[in-house]
Amino acid sequence: MKLTLPELRRETPLAMVTAYDYPGAQQAERAGMDLILVGDSLGNVVLGYDSTAPVTLGDIIHHARAVRRGAPDTFLVADLPFGTYHTGLHDAVRAAVKIIQETGSDAVKLEGASPEVLEAITVLSRNGIPVMAHLGLTPQTEVSLGGRKVQGRDEVGAQRILESARAVEEAGAFAVVLEVIPARLARLITERATIPTIGIGAGPYCDGQVLVYHDVLGVSDGEKKIAKRYAELGQLATEALRAYAGEVRSKTFPAKENSFIIKDEVLDKLY
Ligand code: KIV
Repeated sequence: MKLTLPELRRETPLAMVTAYDYPGAQQAERAGMDLILVGDSLGNVVLGYDSTAPVTLGDIIHHARAVRRGAPDTFLVADLPFGTYHTGLHDAVRAAVKIIQETGSDAVKLEGASPEVLEAITVLSRNGIPVMAHLGLTPQTEVSLGGRKVQGRDEVGAQRILESARAVEEAGAFAVVLEVIPARLARLITERATIPTIGIGAGPYCDGQVLVYHDVLGVSDGEKKIAKRYAELGQLATEALRAYAGEVRSKTFPAKENSFIIKDEVLDKLY
């Protein structure tokens, strides 16, 4: 059963995973995830881009609709993609409303704590659109953060994230993702926050964890320190596809049991 916002505050620790399509969403719901995220990591892991920046609002809507069909009973969060909430409040509200109306998502997620983002969080959450905030290593602004590196290691950086966490909560966010920050900084934020913190590469003290589907299942290439591979489905898929191609070439597939029959008397008439 889908958790409500008050339950999300109480029922910690929360397990969250990304999903981008119907079967992935079905698997996540059957596995009992508390939340599913249609993340703009879609760009990297599904669409083959090298960043999240090219992901459009249309892409998120297309994939979130499929995810909602696969997981009708799980709290669904969809990312507001790069460029959809940086050009003014009006654009942010329009993009968020479009996502909610056209996909059936329960909430949107946006990155950072700039004055524009805080204003968007305030207006959206006051008007019935729950907002999940995202701080630390925010992939949409990764280039200006100096690449994919741990955030908040020095005093200035740590203080900034701490203050941002307070600011997004005050603005009305119902939860905050903390990405790639030191574990003890995440603990301090979690202790001070009254909303759930959801970590990715932020250690064990958060109120929940989120991982990318392809990392959990071992479909993406390479090891990532922040993730754990619970299966090697990428390798299994390649082996299965190789076996299929081999059987096509050796003519062992399709076999009799994969074929349909026609009665002799019907066939005779065709000769
Ligand atoms: O886009 C995404 O998948 C995310 C998570 C990694 C938090 O934002």
